[in-house]
Amino acid sequence: MATPVMDKVEAEAASSPYITATFRIRRFNPEVAAEAYWEDFQVEIDPKERVLDALHKIKWDMDGTLTFRRSCAHGICGSDAMRINGRNRLACKTLIKDLAPEKPITVEPIKGLTVQKDLIVDMEPFFQAYRDVMPFLVSHGNEPTRERLQSAADRERFDDTTKCILCAACTSSCPVYWNDGQYFGPAAIVNAHRFIFDSRDEAGEQRLEILNDKDGVWRCRTTFNCTDACPRGIEVTKAIQEVKRALITRRF
Ligand code: SF4
Ligand code: F3S
Ligand code: FES
Repeated sequence: MATPVMDKVEAEAASSPYITATFRIRRFNPEVAAEAYWEDFQVEIDPKERVLDALHKIKWDMDGTLTFRRSCAHGICGSDAMRINGRNRLACKTLIKDLAPEKPITVEPIKGLTVQKDLIVDMEPFFQAYRDVMPFLVSHGNEPTRERLQSAADRERFDDTTKCILCAACTSSCPVYWNDGQYFGPAAIVNAHRFIFDSRDEAGEQRLEILNDKDGVWRCRTTFNCTDACPRGIEVTKAIQEVKRALITRRF
């Protein structure tokens, strides 16, 4: 027979926002086994929370060996890009309710870079390509006594590509990059674009020559995966097209 106490417990359970979601995580520890495998975790969670919150619950309460990168937890540092339900996303910007949590939610490392442990990949090839395109302002002589002036229209020219947080979601979603990893990749081109079209910069020609390489901008097949993957909403493919056009016309 139901008692007032049981009624209260059931009513609270019915109004609780919590669900039990299954997180199917790709695990890999080269010190233990040569092969990666899937492991399921049942997590009590509010669907309004993010995948990063679920990963924290798993690491802090269930399995401290789970390994992943994160820092800011607010979409700024770019360190927690991962493949969630088969798509590159930032764990800290992905709400569980948007992932059909009645089915297992898969979480894997991004593709195209060597997995070091669980969700952590070796980012060095990605950052090498970034360094190769000279991602800094080059300006010789005419040192201004105050700031270097630029019109609003000139600043607007490269506004979109200033938003990059170097998360690698674009590059690691590109099928050309998966094939051999030699392609500079969309993130490096985005960061070259940011300076090529900056009216204050003097090394645009040099950067265009770097991207004219056999592993440069011409390897892009305009598949748009990069644009779909970018958590900052950067029009990555458009930026790549602009660099290609600048190479053809040498006007920027
Ligand atoms: Fe990440 Fe977008 Fe930058 Fe690519 S362009 S690294 S997806 S922020
Ligand atoms: Fe790759 Fe993006 Fe080009 S996904 S092929 S860099 S449009
Ligand atoms: Fe910094 Fe997600 S933890 S972007």
